[in-house]
Formats: sequence, structure tokens, C-alpha cells
Amino acid sequence: MLEVACGLRPSHAYLSEVLQFIHTHPFQRNCSHHKMLAEVLLSVLFLIVCVYFLDAKPKNLPPGLWGLPVVGYIFSTLPFPEQIKNLQRRFGDIASWRIGSRITILISDFAAIKSALGHPNLATRADFFSFNIFSHFENMGILSSNGPQWQHARRFALHHLKDFGMGKTSLEDTIIPEVNQLINEISKQEGEPMEISNALNVSILNVIWKLVADRRYNINDEEILTFQKMIFEDFENAQGPVMLLDYFPWLFHILPSWVINKVMGVNITEYNRNTLNDFHKQIVEEHKKSRIPHNPRDYIDAYLDKEEEEKHNPNSSFKFELFDLLITMGDLFVAGSETTSSTFRWMIALMAVNPDVQTKVQAEIDAAVPRDRIPNLNDRKNLQYLEAMLNEVHRHASFTPLGIPHMVSEDTDLEGYVLPKGSIVMANTSNCHFNPRYWKYPKTFYPEHFIDEKGKCMNKKEGFLPFSIGRRVCLGETLARTELFLFTSAVLQQFTIKSPPGEKIVAETDPSKLIFNHVKPYKVVFERRTQTI
Ligand code: HEM
Ligand SMILES: *[C@@H]1O[C@H](CO)[C@@H](O)[C@H](O)[C@H]1NC(C)=O
Ligand SMILES: *[C@@H]1O[C@H](CO)[C@@H](O)[C@H](O)[C@H]1NC(C)=O
Ligand SMILES: *[C@@H]1O[C@H](CO)[C@@H](O)[C@H](O)[C@H]1NC(C)=O
Ligand SMILES: *[C@@H]1O[C@H](CO)[C@@H](O)[C@H](O)[C@H]1NC(C)=O
Repeated sequence: MLEVACGLRPSHAYLSEVLQFIHTHPFQRNCSHHKMLAEVLLSVLFLIVCVYFLDAKPKNLPPGLWGLPVVGYIFSTLPFPEQIKNLQRRFGDIASWRIGSRITILISDFAAIKSALGHPNLATRADFFSFNIFSHFENMGILSSNGPQWQHARRFALHHLKDFGMGKTSLEDTIIPEVNQLINEISKQEGEPMEISNALNVSILNVIWKLVADRRYNINDEEILTFQKMIFEDFENAQGPVMLLDYFPWLFHILPSWVINKVMGVNITEYNRNTLNDFHKQIVEEHKKSRIPHNPRDYIDAYLDKEEEEKHNPNSSFKFELFDLLITMGDLFVAGSETTSSTFRWMIALMAVNPDVQTKVQAEIDAAVPRDRIPNLNDRKNLQYLEAMLNEVHRHASFTPLGIPHMVSEDTDLEGYVLPKGSIVMANTSNCHFNPRYWKYPKTFYPEHFIDEKGKCMNKKEGFLPFSIGRRVCLGETLARTELFLFTSAVLQQFTIKSPPGEKIVAETDPSKLIFNHVKPYKVVFERRTQTI
């Protein structure tokens, strides 16, 4: 019926009017309403076609879950970590999953990870809410920055951290006092079940902070303990419900603030970030007062020198500025402490669980190092089994099991697939670390995995990626390895680590956590081996 089609009320008077209108205008049978309807229908059809084409799955996308426009594939009864773990099982070593409107590519095979992360188009950091919150959503610092900013910042940091590790005071001279501090702390409770968290956290932080800010702290320094708690809290928050905002950034503007704050902890992360920034700013201000230009004591001084230089260079392509320095300090503070102390805690637990390995390491130390001094870097060449043991700790811990996510900056070919621009790339390094293709006894703690035919330790090995690979590879690898060597060799020279009497501790992680593998908290007993030196 005409009136229905034109959306008119079926009134007889009106109908007769319309009929008369049509009758008297025989060549304009389409009433204007009718015309409008056609237009609306056409528009809707056009929109549907558009959405369909815009939403068409990119050609040669790795197999995986696609789902619906806007939301992607989100319907499942499984919790998020379980879902992503199923991806490889269902779709293989290069799989895709659309969440929201962004595609995540999960790569689980070593060769594919190597070629993906080695590709210049994959050197971009994922623009995740949970990362960018630390840089105030600015392209600053190292960890979450991109493009020329990242290149400059990374190069500058690599260059100057090396300077301060190997220049006036050697890296060793920076680390040894911290090793002694830790051993002292442990001595106070030797023979009793203990946690070593605080002493360790501060000792490890002191190393990076000496290089960056020429400062060190006592184990009971209230201020520094507060900051460490904040970092730990941030690590935990970052792998919690806030990840929803990484995939659905627009939810930030829609969700009620109690969800953003109470459930996702965004206000806490912001509060921690601001408190740290203020603390760092205060340190920079003090440096500005006490520095002697061109005679840097630490990273901050070197940065301030560079800042002045660039200010007077009209050709400079890069602005060094306070805000960038603060974000960089935050990056180094966070990336340079919790990672290393967490790995050390894994080592302690794994030694308690694997007494045979521990005995072997101690025998090696005893043969190479006189008992009246703790090991130093010259002893390293003679402590190859210990080095191999530390690599085995990295393998077992797989501290960042999925790496730190990257993003694809241009459509990129990988093993016959196309990774679309804007996709998130996660590399299951933990999958490589437990793959029988690369490891004789994948599940066993077996340092011999890293010993070559000549009895030397191999730090590079197929399937081994604790510091990632490619252009964004961890820039603190040398530092972390040196620290772990000096701390571990001294502690194992002095003490034997055991589970508390009648208990058997386990060295494992919380499987519901996706991004960082912290070892479950435990207590161990440190038994003195030699006389106090
Ligand atoms: C056992 C200790 C450590 C582990 C397991 C570790 C692991 C990692 C991993 C997996 C990445 C991500 C690389 C990528 O995006 O592909 C990374 C990045 C980074 N690490 Fe480490 N790291 C450790 C210690 C350190 C230390 C001591 C520092 C201090 C200088 C540091 C500074 C950084 C920085 C600044 C980045 C960002 C690099 C970039 O985005 O270009 N890390 N680390
Ligand atoms: C030290 O680190 C451990 C593990 O990360 C954590 O449980 C503990 O709370 C930390 N201590 C402080 C004071 O932050
Ligand atoms: C964050 O927000 C929650 C809920 O609104 C509140 O209980 C908490 O005190 C806030 N924390 C901080 C550090 O602002
Ligand atoms: C800036 O670039 C110009 C042209 O390349 C060059 O002549 C000049 O010396 C440069 N100035 C500085 C301070 O490097
Ligand atoms: C990564 O690989 C490990 C070891 O094969 C597996 O247990 C884990 O579920 C994988 N994680 C994801 C997210 O696929």
C-alpha cells in the first residue's frame, strides 16, 4: 500500500487526496516520500557494502580468529590468557586474532620470530594504553617511543650507559659494593628461612641508578622502597584488566571512572608515574646545580651536556629536553631493575630445587676462585658452567614469555603471509625456550644445554631469546648479564641455598599472568659455606 510504503498514517481523507494527486500528475507517480525512502535504502545498502568491504579480511592474513566489525572476535567462555594460548594449538606457529578493530599476530616459531623482529617494519612499539600511560601518551623516552625520537634516545642511552659502566669507574666497581651489601644482609639471617626481596630489589636498583643518577640507597631506605613497591604495582596493573584499553582505547571515554580506576587501576598507575616523575625531576634539578659542564658524572650529566649542545645547533633534528629525560629515567628505572631482580629470584629458587646443579657450580667456583675473595669479572672465563646455568635460568624463567609487543608499521610479508599495517606482534619466546627441537631436555633444568664441545658457554643459541632479538633487542643485556654473574657467583661461593626444613619449594610462575613471569614467592635457607671474609 502506498501510504504504508511512504510512512503515512492511513487516513481515508489523506488517501483520497493522494490518489487524486497521482491521478492529476500522471508522470510523477513517485511521491517525494517514496523517493526519500529509496535514497535511505540505497544509503543503508551502500553502508553495508562499505562496512563489508572495509571489514574484508586482508588477503593472506595468517589463519586465526576474525569475528565481527568493531568488536572483532571476543566471544568465548575462556578467560583471555586461555584464549590466546589456544591460538597456536588451533592455527599454528603464525596465527592472527582480531580483538576490537586491531589484529594481533602471535608468532611461536623461532625462525619466524627472528625474521619478523629483524624486519625494519616491525621495530615499532605497540601503541598500547598500558605502555603509553608511562610516557604521558607522548613520543618520549626509549621503551614506548618510535621513529627518529626512539633512534636518537636509544643510541644516546646505549652510548652513555657504556661510558659510565666502563669509563672512570668500571662497571665492576659499581656492582661489587652492592654484592657485598646483599651478602651482608643475607648473613644476618643465615640458617633461617627467609625472603630476600627488599635487599635484592635495592641492591639491583642501585646498579642502574649509579650509572644514571650517581646515587645509591641503603637497603632500608623508605623512599626507595616506596618507589619499588610502585614499580611492582605498575607491573601487576599493566598485565591486568587495563589491557582491555589496549584493544578498545575508546572505552576510556565511555567506561565509568570507577571501572577505569578501581578495576583497571589507572589512577594508581598515574599516581605512581607522577610521583616517580617528581622524584626524578628533583634529582635532575640537583644535577643542574652541581654539575660541571663537559665533565659528566653520570647519564643525567651527559644528557644535560647534550641538551645545551643541541640548543645551540640550528641544524639539530632532535630536541633534548627535560620531559624526555624524565621519561627516559623512568624507562631505565623500571626496565633496569625489576627484570634483573626477578631473574635473580628465579635463580635462587632453581638452585634450591636443583641441588646437583648447585653443587657443580660451587665446585667450579672453588676451583677457580680463592676463598678469601669474591669472584670478579676476570674469573668469568673460568666459570663457564655458572654462565651456562644463568642462561638456563633465563630459559626457565622466560621472564617476558610473549616479549614486549611490537607493531607493524607497513604491510609486511612474512613466510607467505601478509602482516597488515597496525597489527600487534607478539612473539612466544617461551614456546622457543621449551621446544624439544632446540633443547635436549626441555623440561629439565640442565645447564649443559648451553655448553659447547669445547666446554665453553654459548650465549647465543637457536631457540634462545630472553632479551628478544632484532632492532629493539633489550639494550641492557650486557649490564644484566654482568650483574647476574657477579651477584650469583658471590652468593653461591658464600652460601648453599636450600628449601626450608620439611618443605620443598617450587620454582614456578602464576600461569594466569601473560606478560611477566615472576616466580611465585618462597622462603629459602642460606647456609654459610666459608668463613666470613
Ligand atoms: C634479566 C634482565 C632483563 C631481561 C630479561 C630483559 C628483557 C627485555 C626484553 C624482552 C625487551 C623487549 C625487546 C623488544 O621489544 O623486542 C627489553 C627491552 C628493553 N630493556 Fe631489557 N631486560 C633485562 C634487563 C634490562 C636492564 C638491566 C636494562 C637497563 C638498561 C634494560 C633496558 C631495556 C630497555 C631500555 C628496553 C627497551 C628497548 C627499546 O624499546 O628499544 N633491560 N628488555
Ligand atoms: C621486592 O620485589 C618482590 C618481588 O618483585 C616484591 O614481592 C616485594 O614486594 C619487593 N619489595 C619492595 C619493598 O618493593
Ligand atoms: C583510585 O580510585 C579508586 C576508586 O575511585 C579509589 O578508591 C582510590 O583511592 C584511588 N587511588 C588513588 C591513588 O588515587
Ligand atoms: C648547519 O648546516 C649548514 C648547511 O649544511 C652548515 O653550513 C652549518 O655549518 C651547520 N651548522 C652547525 C652549527 O652545524
Ligand atoms: C607459549 O608457548 C608455551 C610453551 O609452548 C605455551 O605453554 C603457552 O601457552 C604459549 N603461549 C601462548 C600465548 O600461546
